[in-house]
Amino acid sequence: MTYQTALITGASSGIGAAFARALPKATGLLLTGRDRDRLNALAQELGLNGRPVRTVIADLATAEGRQAVIGAAGIARVDLIINNAGIGRLGRVVDNMEPHEAEMVQVNIAAPVEIIRGLLPDMLRHAKESGTRCGIINVASAAAFAPMPTFATYAASKTFLLNYTEALAEEMSSEPVDILALCPGATETRFFERAGVEKPSMTVMHQAERVAAEGLQHLGHARVHVVGPTNYLASLAMRLLPRRFVTAAAETTLQKWK
Ligand SMILES: NC(=O)c1ccc[n+]([C@@H]2O[C@H](COP(=O)([O-])OP(=O)(O)OC[C@H]3O[C@@H](n4cnc5c(N)ncnc54)[C@H](OP(=O)(O)O)[C@@H]3O)[C@@H](O)[C@H]2O)c1
Repeated sequence: MTYQTALITGASSGIGAAFARALPKATGLLLTGRDRDRLNALAQELGLNGRPVRTVIADLATAEGRQAVIGAAGIARVDLIINNAGIGRLGRVVDNMEPHEAEMVQVNIAAPVEIIRGLLPDMLRHAKESGTRCGIINVASAAAFAPMPTFATYAASKTFLLNYTEALAEEMSSEPVDILALCPGATETRFFERAGVEKPSMTVMHQAERVAAEGLQHLGHARVHVVGPTNYLASLAMRLLPRRFVTAAAETTLQKWK
């Protein structure tokens, strides 16, 4: 399925930039983030041969930033939303700075919820008028499947996004929209550096290109996709094993992060 115009949040880096590069050249792009230089460089790289590529510089931790993105996406008549922007901060809840805890909630939860509510009604109307389908990919995480001490707010924000996406997909099951929660495991991006982690003790780190490609492949075919067989098996185990055991195991793993 080729979309007319895709909104990608967090397109200035990592998985978001990989989504921008992976989409077909026939799809116009609306790229958002805070880093103007990186976004402009990506827009220049991808905006060849008359392909429309626009940027919106906006901080999704603020209501104004979220409204700016929704406004620009409405004008561009996007038919694919990729809610990818996200941030994690390692540390106990009581030790983390309040603004950092709030930022995770605003960027990881408020932004996708407001963007979807702001855009989906018109996307559905346009899809029905033109006899096509629209799409939504919400980038959750393999961390969505467990409570994670010292990554509590981040992991819980991704649990919210996972459950929200699955419920929304069920609500929309007879509408012309495909909805996917994409759950990457550890991926080589700037995420860990921003999270305050120098060295994640991961044996397998995926590439952002693979994560984006799998997201686009599974949209329309699944409601949830966990990237990588090991992460998939771990997600099953985390759903089946007793919660206290899963929480303690997550804490042990995260204690190895520096
Ligand atoms: N890397 C991993 O191991 C991993 C694993 C599972 C899930 N994920 C999820 O994948 C998504 C993409 O992360 P990534 O790994 O590609 O990390 P990244 O390289 O750090 O990219 C994060 C993106 O989010 C944007 N962003 C962060 N805070 C923002 C804010 N306040 N306002 C607007 N944009 C903001 C950043 O844009 P600016 O810098 O321009 O503001 C950047 O483009 C996130 O939702 C993350 O939770 C990552």
